[in-house]
Amino acid sequence: MSVPPLLKIENLGHSYGKYLVIRDISMEVTAGELTALIGPNGAGKTTFYNAVSGRFRPTQGRVFFNGRDITGLPAHRIVPLGLVRSFQITNVFPDLSVIENVLVPLVLHHGKGFSFLKSLSREKALYW
Ligand SMILES: Nc1ncnc2c1ncn2[C@@H]1O[C@H](COP(=O)(O)OP(=O)(O)O)[C@@H](O)[C@H]1O
Ligand SMILES: [Mg+2]
Repeated sequence: MSVPPLLKIENLGHSYGKYLVIRDISMEVTAGELTALIGPNGAGKTTFYNAVSGRFRPTQGRVFFNGRDITGLPAHRIVPLGLVRSFQITNVFPDLSVIENVLVPLVLHHGKGFSFLKSLSREKALYW
């Protein structure tokens, strides 16, 4: 019995205005599989990731995650489904500790807004 793909991409493409950057990309990734996308600078890797992860809606094709069509959903709707992108260049908050940096997304998840700027140590619900 074949395992259904966790991520399925059908004929994905994207244009910035008239400038077609990627086209007709189809691929499947099953759970636990490690897949690499390689290409020279300007090949369209970031455009691909942005289109898949909801930074913008691709101008062509469809993206399915866990069988659900997520094409064009914004990132904040895709992330809770379990699909998250990471960034090539990352930054930390230099005035926060390591654990506080790790907790920043949890703060937002707990609806605390930007109160972390005051003190994360007072947010007991974040600690386990
Ligand atoms: N927002 C944008 N508007 C117009 N062109 C863009 C934009 N973002 C990227 N590009 C162009 O699309 C092409 C692919 O870029 P990108 O996806 O960043 O490639 P890679 O990540 O593989 O280096 C490049 O020619 C780049 O200049
Ligand atoms: Mg890139």
